[in-house]
Amino acid sequence: MNTHPMATFSFFLLLTLSFVGSSMADYKANVFNNLPGNSNLTVHCKSAGLDLGTQTITYLHDFSWTVNNLLNCDMSWGNVNGNFDIFDPKRDASRCAYGNTCFWRVKEDGLYLFIKEHKRLELQFKWPGQIFA
Ligand SMILES: *[C@@H]1O[C@H](CO)[C@@H](O)[C@H](O)[C@H]1NC(C)=O
Repeated sequence: MNTHPMATFSFFLLLTLSFVGSSMADYKANVFNNLPGNSNLTVHCKSAGLDLGTQTITYLHDFSWTVNNLLNCDMSWGNVNGNFDIFDPKRDASRCAYGNTCFWRVKEDGLYLFIKEHKRLELQFKWPGQIFA
């Protein structure tokens, strides 16, 4: 084969760039348990057809998942439970990724996400069936 050296160089440059590009797309979803009454938070997540298992996040502790795709989780505490998309690349990559991490804070009334542009936590999901006065 008589390939121009520049073509070979460009090919490897592209290969390197696409590798760097894909590793940049590693996000983390961090969940912090800020529930009342020392409650443990049970979290069972799935991503891209993969079952990531069940985590117990104890009161005032956190856990992070590395994600590139949609991260969907069942969450429960006490007799309250819900199912939430806690990372969606299209929805979240620019709005919450703070050094590639999206920070969730789970409270009595629902799930708060740190919104980068507003520099504050904002309620995104309420626990289903919960009624607050
Ligand atoms: C929370 O989980 C920890 C560790 O799994 C356990 O030791 C503790 O008893 C649990 N606390 C409550 C209030 O269920």
